[in-house]
Amino acid sequence: MPFNTDPAIYAASTYPSLEDWKGLWAVWDVVTRSMIPKEELHEKPIKLRNACIFYLGHIPTFMDIQLTKMTNEPPCEPSYYPEIFERGIDPDVDNPEQCHAHSEVPEKWPPLEEILAYQDKVRTKIRKLSSMQVIPRHVGRALWIGFEHEIMHLETLLYMLLQSGKTLPPTRFRPDFEGDAKRAEATRVPNQWFKIPAQRIQLGLEDPEDNLGPDRHFGW
Ligand SMILES: [Fe+2]
Repeated sequence: MPFNTDPAIYAASTYPSLEDWKGLWAVWDVVTRSMIPKEELHEKPIKLRNACIFYLGHIPTFMDIQLTKMTNEPPCEPSYYPEIFERGIDPDVDNPEQCHAHSEVPEKWPPLEEILAYQDKVRTKIRKLSSMQVIPRHVGRALWIGFEHEIMHLETLLYMLLQSGKTLPPTRFRPDFEGDAKRAEATRVPNQWFKIPAQRIQLGLEDPEDNLGPDRHFGW
């Protein structure tokens, strides 16, 4: 997959296109619907994190919270979802007692079908907003936050699933691990040293619209 390094090409507009969303949803659905066996949804591949099912509700809930803030649209139902899905747990590994504020973890998570129906409603809202002739800047910004958030969770969910012995492969194609290992070994070359000249770099994101609120979704 080629990636262009020119921002005028890789970020041609200030909001993700409907095609960008469709591509992301296709991958999210493969991971959440075909790689996690149903009985695994309530398991925690990482002990200190929520069960996998939390992430299925967290993604659309987070997006709907941002869109509700920035548009006049009412929140999608069940509108109590932010109470349980807004924030996940992320305790200190050395001392799990230390944990930032998070949503209440319910006795029982809502049924999968209900969460998926909610996800559909939020996706419909995204489709509607993304097809507007002119997307106001603050709405575009909310869409970007949700888009970036979903991509990042895709990565962390895969990282969690790697630690479960029950994760299913996303394809029936079985890589030729032995052959690939031999080929890689045969084409091995010694490591090269690269000289990186001393220079000053700036980290983070120059964000003139950062409201410096507690959430800090953009910038570091
Ligand atoms: Fe999140």
